[in-house]
Amino acid sequence: MGSLPPPSGIQTIDISPLINSKDPVARKAKIDELVAAIHIQGACGLVGHGIKIDRLREAFKWAQKFFDLPYEEKAKANHPNGIVPHRGYSGIGREKCLIYTEEELKSMSGELAANARKALDFKEHYDTGSDGELVHYNLWIDEHALPGFRTWAQGFYWEMEKLSRTVLQAMIDGLGVDEEAKKDFMSIHTGHQNGLRLMHYPSAHESTIDRSSLTWCPTHTDFTTYTLLMQDENQGLEIEDRLNPGTFLPATTEVEDRMYLTIGDFGEIWSNGYLPASKHRVIIPRAADGSEVTPKRYSMPYFITPAEDGICGPQYTGKLASGPRGKYKTSTIKEHVEFRMKFQY
Ligand SMILES: [Fe+2]
Repeated sequence: MGSLPPPSGIQTIDISPLINSKDPVARKAKIDELVAAIHIQGACGLVGHGIKIDRLREAFKWAQKFFDLPYEEKAKANHPNGIVPHRGYSGIGREKCLIYTEEELKSMSGELAANARKALDFKEHYDTGSDGELVHYNLWIDEHALPGFRTWAQGFYWEMEKLSRTVLQAMIDGLGVDEEAKKDFMSIHTGHQNGLRLMHYPSAHESTIDRSSLTWCPTHTDFTTYTLLMQDENQGLEIEDRLNPGTFLPATTEVEDRMYLTIGDFGEIWSNGYLPASKHRVIIPRAADGSEVTPKRYSMPYFITPAEDGICGPQYTGKLASGPRGKYKTSTIKEHVEFRMKFQY
């Protein structure tokens, strides 16, 4: 009898044994399950992660309150034009995109109207991180504009950091790399270089959307070790099916506290391709009631990123020993991030 085909689709893993069990057998089984799922798709859903539903709902409420602020309040924390610090508020249009109200569209004609209708990268976001990070230091709005926001953001950041470290450790253990590689890997993930991004994709009028060619966020990989994505009920995340390249699987949130783990570039490089970077995109959902206005969407990626002066290169021990040699270059995290970010800002 031949071996079974790999499980199709994006698997959802209940990682509760990694959070609250000391049973080495249960932990080992869960680690193997997690690493096997990510090895196939570069991504998986996570439940049982220990972040309570109420805590997630609260986080989305904070995000909504933040984006509901007047533009001039959010602009006080504007992301700089350069790439350092990669923190602060990026308004709609900040990443080379344009928006128009329905009224403005109606008043346009000819080429202007045609071009406006093609325009979409329709989002605003706010990047925050550790208050202990000195290079990518935080840019905060005024406390009086949204009292308690900063305290919440720092608390949630570190709660996510704790979860991300548990998953990071599980990945490393599951790959079976040698002790030196494990130590190096954990040492470049200090926790201070992670990022919490609040994202808001506003409602858009269907007449402004060319669904044949546009998405809310085009296909990409993240320049992270991995990313944990939380999204609201309006969904939109799609993950490329690595078993059927070019086709995308909806990453749905019918389980309200399900997060999605997607491997980023550093995870792929470090694991010598064993944990492949997930290609993903965000599509524009349609209104459930059939109206012409798409629902707004909130999401929160948590980026797990190594220290900038950390060295990232492929490892060749444990499960990674049989991988290709020379496919991935060794470089500092900073070199890789700068290369990627110069195309964005
Ligand atoms: Fe992404």
